[in-house]
Amino acid sequence: MNIPASLFTGKNRIYFPELDSTNTYAMDVIAKTNPPEGTCIYTDFQTAGRGQIGRCWHSKAGDNLLLSYIFYPRALNVSSQFYLNIVSSLAVLDVLKMWCPDAKIKWPNDLYVGNNKIAGILVQNTLRGFYIKSTVIGIGLNINQNRFPADLPNPTSLFLETGVLKNKNEIMQWLDARLEYHYLRLQASQWNSLRNDYLSDMYKLHEWAFFRSPGKPKFLGKITGIDEQGKLLICLENQDIASFGFREIEFLFDPV
Ligand code: BTN
Repeated sequence: MNIPASLFTGKNRIYFPELDSTNTYAMDVIAKTNPPEGTCIYTDFQTAGRGQIGRCWHSKAGDNLLLSYIFYPRALNVSSQFYLNIVSSLAVLDVLKMWCPDAKIKWPNDLYVGNNKIAGILVQNTLRGFYIKSTVIGIGLNINQNRFPADLPNPTSLFLETGVLKNKNEIMQWLDARLEYHYLRLQASQWNSLRNDYLSDMYKLHEWAFFRSPGKPKFLGKITGIDEQGKLLICLENQDIASFGFREIEFLFDPV
């Protein structure tokens, strides 16, 4: 299949064989200069790869995609910043579905195949007043890695899912195109359709599953969607709907 050309995403591409973190580098660049919209920083190996909630991101040297894109959304209110998570999740999902049609988005922005994590996204915004001034969308997508450290709970890669090694460069160009597509939908204020697309491929939507909030016992619930701020909505056994922010909920894999 021919890779669609993007207009501006990935046109300015900056490569390092090794870097502490593409997100850290991108945030530094934004603080010091004004890189063009769609700039993509990528590397083969991170010495201090960053995950969500202060976690690390592991990736074997040379095997996977480790990249960060820089955008300057126009008129995006801080209260709508979750749409950047939606846009980036949908872009990675589109690419994954080329080989793994049952890939899903695990709230807020992990990509899963079955019950295994194949990609993670770290969105870091800078603000001007109540608006997003710039955003760094950092994506770690496992492509050709065939073994992971035993302490990672449930990693997978495109190679492990398909048995075929992939061309990272081509996948990066697909990502450019799909990210630009969904980003332009955001800039065209297509709120409802973006939200609906995100919901229609959400991991565990409308399924009974176990969850836990920090320091509390596990509970049974059913994800019903997200609210306007992107908080996760879960229907509890007593039919109450509870909402949870980023650090307030953990998915458990215990069978129901
Ligand atoms: C997560 O699932 O916790 C988010 C992981 C995000 C990892 C990517 S790898 C490229 C970019 N640079 C980083 O330091 N982190 C993101």
